[in-house]
Amino acid sequence: MEKKFKRTLITTALPYANGPVHIGHLAGVYVPADIYARYMRMRGEDVVMIGGSDEHGVPITIKARGEGVTPQDIVDRYHSIIKESMKGLGISFDVYSRTSSAMHRETASEFFRRLYDKGEFVEKTSMQLYDEKANQFLADRYVTGECPHCHNERAYGDQCEACGTSLNATDLINPKSAITGNTPVLKETKHWYLPLDKWEPALSKWILEGHKEWKTNVYGQCKSWIDMGLQPRAVSRDLDWGVPVPVEGADGKVLYVWFDAPIGYISNTKEILPDTWQTYWKDPETRIINFIGKDNIVFHCIVFPAMLMAYGDNFQLPDNVPANEFLNLEGDKISTSRNWAVWLHEYLVDFPGKQDVLRYVLTANAPETKDNDFTWRDFQARNNNELVAILGNFVNRAIVLTHKFFEGKVPAQGALADVDTQLFAGIAKAKESLSANLDTFHFREALKDAMEIARLGNRYLQETEPWKLAKTDMERVATIMNVALQICGNIAIAFEPFLPFMSEKLRTMLNMGAISWDDLGKSDLIAADTAIAPAEFLFEKIEDDAIDAQIQRLERIKEENRVKGFKAAPQMENVDFETFMKADLRVGTVLECKKVPKADKLLQFLIDDGMGTRTIVSGIAKYYNPEDLVGKQVCFIANLAPRKLKGIESQGMILSAENADGSLVVMGPSAPVVPGAQVK
Ligand code: 2FM
Ligand code: ZN
Repeated sequence: MEKKFKRTLITTALPYANGPVHIGHLAGVYVPADIYARYMRMRGEDVVMIGGSDEHGVPITIKARGEGVTPQDIVDRYHSIIKESMKGLGISFDVYSRTSSAMHRETASEFFRRLYDKGEFVEKTSMQLYDEKANQFLADRYVTGECPHCHNERAYGDQCEACGTSLNATDLINPKSAITGNTPVLKETKHWYLPLDKWEPALSKWILEGHKEWKTNVYGQCKSWIDMGLQPRAVSRDLDWGVPVPVEGADGKVLYVWFDAPIGYISNTKEILPDTWQTYWKDPETRIINFIGKDNIVFHCIVFPAMLMAYGDNFQLPDNVPANEFLNLEGDKISTSRNWAVWLHEYLVDFPGKQDVLRYVLTANAPETKDNDFTWRDFQARNNNELVAILGNFVNRAIVLTHKFFEGKVPAQGALADVDTQLFAGIAKAKESLSANLDTFHFREALKDAMEIARLGNRYLQETEPWKLAKTDMERVATIMNVALQICGNIAIAFEPFLPFMSEKLRTMLNMGAISWDDLGKSDLIAADTAIAPAEFLFEKIEDDAIDAQIQRLERIKEENRVKGFKAAPQMENVDFETFMKADLRVGTVLECKKVPKADKLLQFLIDDGMGTRTIVSGIAKYYNPEDLVGKQVCFIANLAPRKLKGIESQGMILSAENADGSLVVMGPSAPVVPGAQVK
């Protein structure tokens, strides 16, 4: 049975203030959270929606170093860009604060101190990489090197972005300092660890037994973390930017960014509700919902809950964590560092007054169950064929006809005909589905339900043809136009969570007062005789040139990245000739090539290597159709120790060249050679 809650606390992942927000952040977190918050408010629920910038962490210090400014300068710059642009898109935070605030520092510090005093941490000394030239320990992203799993040479000290594995900096092969380029040395340092293993039984019970209703992507990730066995996690770092570790002998150490960031949700609640914040965090009748992207699942479902349990004092755990997958842009992964993104603050300048178009497209393509793609052509098509042709067109016809036949006053509704009652039954059905989908975080489907009301409206006018009846039966026309205007009112309500700018404009046109979710479905929303404003278009067609300009911008960026990629490709250390000769490079002919099931990136090859055949698995599936490679000759490393990929033993490695955008091109001879020919 469903629990009845008294209030809802919505948290939204705090974006890093090392760049502006882009459409990936919006589709994954802020648009769905805002839809949900607006919906709950319309239902009359007590809702607080928390946002803010995540202003600590190594990438911010690296960016500051690169620009020769302070980390505070960087976060000041991006915090205000992010805050303003989110407001511009109508994301209705009740608070948007920041983790460099005094309130946050105090709250995070107290949180750590209490856990420390309760003996909830384990202190450990370990050997960490240290840059002797820069005189500092190298946290996470300050180290790059070769991934021990996929051998990507540009893996970071905390994660390999090529294969997605979480790493420790000391796992990297050939580590290099990102500050000086030096090879770091190992040096002893002390840190505080949160023993997640201690909380494993409680976490397992809470999630695996208690929250089977969570989205499968979230539940599955939690299950696999718990099944693998949880390990103690360091919650401090050797760094000079962040919340200082509030204990004796911790000079030069700060809280790990992922320790302090989620506490930001609490600090920000305190900031707006200094007297009642505890009710929103500690009363079991509060329902907490965390909106996040998939890369944040472990921190919100495992680490932060363990912190809250360790703190005690009745802190409540989230009731749901509806994490989304990722949004790609024109087929490629969105990347801040490669500028491969549609930036919100730029969109708002390039498409003034079109906030709702972006909200609509991002919801229609929300990466709810799998990664999804944003393309400018789809953006244009959805605007022109859906918002303009279906929604805008219906409202426009209803209002224009009311002005034509009734001088802009809502005519009285007479007896309803079957077609009218059927229409309201259709709206009631759409409302039922819409509410159910919103309640369960299925926003794409919910948007379709709302759109169904506009479709019903168009069909209604098509069927009743008031423009023809006007010659013979004005009484019936009055009822039809009254009904059509009631549908417009219903549209204003149903779309408020999704398209708040349109909803407000429509409500003004229809002279409607305050709206509530309970009103949705009603046939008497707008009283007879109400004066309505002349028709104004709710949406306008987006022409090709606006879209072409965006596509050209992306093409320019691709080209810039390509050029930069060539210039910036890090040169590796010299090796002697004997070392080079140890690699047995050969040419083989591809006999068979097929996709590896359940692995988006992998292709399985059968290669004629001159002496027989061998199987090689290669991570190039995104760039080739397997059948196009059959018959081609490729270079490969013949004496790489075999390793298993997705259970298939790969006997070598096919050589590819990597473009700046990460795409791969297979290497082969410029003219046919005999299979097995050595590459020298
Ligand atoms: O992934 C990110 O962008 C993080 N800055 C999210 C932090 S969420 C919360 F814990 F603050
Ligand atoms: Zn890797």
